[in-house]
Amino acid sequence: MLDGFAGSGSTGLAAILCGRPTDQMRKDAKRLNLDVRWGARKSVLYELGVLGSFVAEVLCNPPDPAEFRQAAEQLLADVRRQWSWLYGTRDPDGNNGEIRYVVWSDLMRCPKCNKHASLWDACVSRQPASISSTFTCPHCGNCAAVESLSRVRENVTDDILVRSRLTRRRVQAWVYGETNGKTWSRPAQACDKKIFQAIEHAELPGNVPLLQVQWGDLYRSGYHEGITHLHHFYTRRNLLAFSALWEATTCFSKRLQSSLRFWLLSYNSAHSTLMTRVVAKKGQNDLVVTSAQPGVLYISGLPVEKNIFAGVRRKIETMQRAFTMVHGHENLVEVRNSSSLDLDLPDESIDYVFTDPPFGNNIPYAEVNFINEAWLGRLTDATEEAIVSPHQHKSVDDYKELLERAFKEINRVLRPDSCATVAFHSASAGVWNALRTACENAGLHVARTSVLNKTQASFKQVRTNGAVKGDPLILLSKTRAPFNGLELDVWAVTKELVKQAANSDDPAEATPQRLYSRLVGRYMSSGHSIPIDAGAFYRGLQERHNRYAEQTV
Ligand SMILES: C[S@@+](CC[C@H](N)C(=O)[O-])C[C@H]1O[C@@H](n2cnc3c(N)ncnc32)[C@H](O)[C@@H]1O
Repeated sequence: MLDGFAGSGSTGLAAILCGRPTDQMRKDAKRLNLDVRWGARKSVLYELGVLGSFVAEVLCNPPDPAEFRQAAEQLLADVRRQWSWLYGTRDPDGNNGEIRYVVWSDLMRCPKCNKHASLWDACVSRQPASISSTFTCPHCGNCAAVESLSRVRENVTDDILVRSRLTRRRVQAWVYGETNGKTWSRPAQACDKKIFQAIEHAELPGNVPLLQVQWGDLYRSGYHEGITHLHHFYTRRNLLAFSALWEATTCFSKRLQSSLRFWLLSYNSAHSTLMTRVVAKKGQNDLVVTSAQPGVLYISGLPVEKNIFAGVRRKIETMQRAFTMVHGHENLVEVRNSSSLDLDLPDESIDYVFTDPPFGNNIPYAEVNFINEAWLGRLTDATEEAIVSPHQHKSVDDYKELLERAFKEINRVLRPDSCATVAFHSASAGVWNALRTACENAGLHVARTSVLNKTQASFKQVRTNGAVKGDPLILLSKTRAPFNGLELDVWAVTKELVKQAANSDDPAEATPQRLYSRLVGRYMSSGHSIPIDAGAFYRGLQERHNRYAEQTV
């Protein structure tokens, strides 16, 4: 098996699990009436990204789970012995406690009284939790839209760059902690400032990468103000904690070191950095702490500083479980950190391809993964990254060219009677047509289409306006199906799809998102280009629905 856009290696994992199917896999196969021949498949994974291929390598060839656990616990205990004071504090009764996380806050300038106030004091309320987009000045009571206010900036000494730099001024706002197993929270106070002063003077381990951020499509002049280097994504406390953990991995054998680094990185970018956030959820008394928003490098005005030691400790169990699922198989997965535009594989040597290429401009992977790759000491060369990117000067047409080269290679290495499955989703007809043309020009033709019924939508699928839920699946073969030449009409096809959905047991079939996926499938498999974006399709569907409702009244 081959995956040319392997990411963190789920195709490799699936290939391994075919040899040791879980109970759920067996049940699903039975329910779907599939004639499965269980047995592990040999697979080769191509992934351009340094981080993706590192993760795939560890996940598909994991260490002994018990050995990993022992090493992780030992590493954490050693580092805590020296650094646990970083998260030490006083609880509301003045006893010694441990920080769980601290909510920091940007400082704003009130346009009326010109005084400074934190976003926390001016916009946040608890019980029930809310974050207002209106700034109410705690000094003069003036109200203004948060976006219209200027942030307070300050010049700070950067001892890694050995120069001063201008940055947004942030203050500790609210501290969440734990004393003898009992959790508490309180406003930040003098003792928190005092610890932070001690942290300012603590010497950083020598391993913090001094690396300039290669900003691309994700740079925003607002919330990325002053962030020029990797270490600016961290509070000094978390930079100390993370670099101490990272340094400690060097004491272990190479195999264990990779798995320990994988464990630390699984927490790092999303939880250890200033990208960690709080959100106000309806019906909740307090703000809910969450991870970084995936796929972007967003830093909120209320960033959260989590206790990294507590966070990585919680992950040991999850890692051990994941390693247990795949450990012990003979080495059947080969991960190549390389571009799939040039596959180092013989002609007609592959039985099956399963892949999901980047979906147009959905995620600039190399840029998103910059933070974790910086710790690994190697950044992805994005020259052949198959994405739409204004920053990289890659238009939809360039994206199509890159995909076409990859699909030509896939066609070359596939055996004559073999197939390739492509999982793909986009809300843009242009991106769909780029995929369609790339496959056709590469000599791969749509044999069938379906929908991957994932249990969980991706972040972009939940958040993007016009996003498509349930990735369409496209089966490509080397043989072209005869083109029937018939024109398709969007709304006539949709009417038919709505009828089919009404007869289906799956309520998801009737959702606009699923109908769009089915519509795309119908056009792809009959050799037509996709005529409509998801957004316009959803609006058209709504209008027709309203008109029909009026007529019935
Ligand atoms: C949608 S993701 C794949 C996710 C994957 N299925 C997984 O299990 O994580 C697409 C991947 O293609 C990779 N990619 C982009 N251009 C590539 C190229 N020319 N060669 C190989 N990989 C590439 C990206 O780095 C990204 O990890």
